[in-house]
Amino acid sequence: MEIRHLTTIDDVSNEEILMMFDAADVMSQHKGKIKSKGRESLLDICAGYNMASLFFEPSTRTRLSFESAMHRLGGDVSSVTEAGSASVAKGETIADTAKIIGSYADVIVVRHPWEGAPKVIADYAGVPVINAGDGAHQHPTQTLTDLYTLRKEKGRIEGLTVALCGDLKYGRTVHSLAYALARFKANIVLISAQNLDMPDYIIKDLGFRYGCHQEEIVDVGQALKKINSHSQNAVRTSTIWVLSGLWGDFFKDLDEIPDIDAFYLTRVQKERFADIGITIEYPTFDGKLLEKIKADAIIMHPLPRVDELAYEIDGDPRSAYFRQAAYGVPVRMALISFLLSVGPFSDFKRTFQKPQFPRYKNRDNIRCGNPKCISMQESESQQITPEFEIVPSDSGSLLRCVYCEREIECQLLHA
Ligand code: CP
Repeated sequence: MEIRHLTTIDDVSNEEILMMFDAADVMSQHKGKIKSKGRESLLDICAGYNMASLFFEPSTRTRLSFESAMHRLGGDVSSVTEAGSASVAKGETIADTAKIIGSYADVIVVRHPWEGAPKVIADYAGVPVINAGDGAHQHPTQTLTDLYTLRKEKGRIEGLTVALCGDLKYGRTVHSLAYALARFKANIVLISAQNLDMPDYIIKDLGFRYGCHQEEIVDVGQALKKINSHSQNAVRTSTIWVLSGLWGDFFKDLDEIPDIDAFYLTRVQKERFADIGITIEYPTFDGKLLEKIKADAIIMHPLPRVDELAYEIDGDPRSAYFRQAAYGVPVRMALISFLLSVGPFSDFKRTFQKPQFPRYKNRDNIRCGNPKCISMQESESQQITPEFEIVPSDSGSLLRCVYCEREIECQLLHA
């Protein structure tokens, strides 16, 4: 059987996501100890399976919810919780590490600072690989949890208007979430902090791949009119409003907040800033701001929070972020079961094919220009060849790195 991975949110179809959510609904009922009497219960469907949990960056929610999910399914877990405790610290390549761990484990969960590292592990491990966050690229299991939260709290995803707020440049959760929301035909309001805009290549891609209508918004008053008029006219096309650098002003300049169903807040990802010197105006979402939003809107956050979310709003029923974090366990239980084809997925016929684009191999010594991409790391260069997809764009076609998925800024190795 074909091995399936979750290295980006594109690796699973909408239909598969919804099936996982149905399974998560059932699994969330089974939190306690195994109670089966000779009968296979949901909670021992992974008995005999081992999950390798490789975290080369800090994590509380993702690592522990994965490990808790595997334990609740009756499986075992082997963990690496620090880069320094694995043999990569002695100079072992990611590809070699993948081959070794793939011979010990049945499924691998990996978080790594290099963008595209989970894809390399998937290429070499021979077992399903799950991306638990790679640099500023994607965090697809957070996205599954976010979509599940929307479905649980709002009853649907399609047609909702979701504002992604704050650091949209380095926040990997909002990158994979934007793709998923567009695929599920939700409307997206991108309200970035100054200097922290959603990368252009993602915004263009959303328009091109999912036909989202896109509008640049120059001030918050215009945002109010446009978003409310869209919602009153019940427009079916998914729309993306881009409010570049306006997160600092959004609540300050508006008494009435547009018709937004969910605010997805992010912290400033200071650890990913190349130029530490910049100052960023970043509001704290507090009780005063909460008073301005719709009575049935929800506040989401992948957590951890720093200063952008005041503790005083935790008790408000619209503050969904702790429930969101808790949903991570049943969602990850369903994902592990799906990738291992066990329990509710044991008879599942896999028909989904990830969209494939023609490949452009490195015949002209072109490399991805992203210094955080795994294909740019000297230590990995003997096993990883830079490789690109030729993807259609407004201007004809462009090259996209298969590892970090950025459009390349061409960099010639040899003149
Ligand atoms: N949301 C999230 O990825 O949290 P952790 O960094 O704690 O895993």
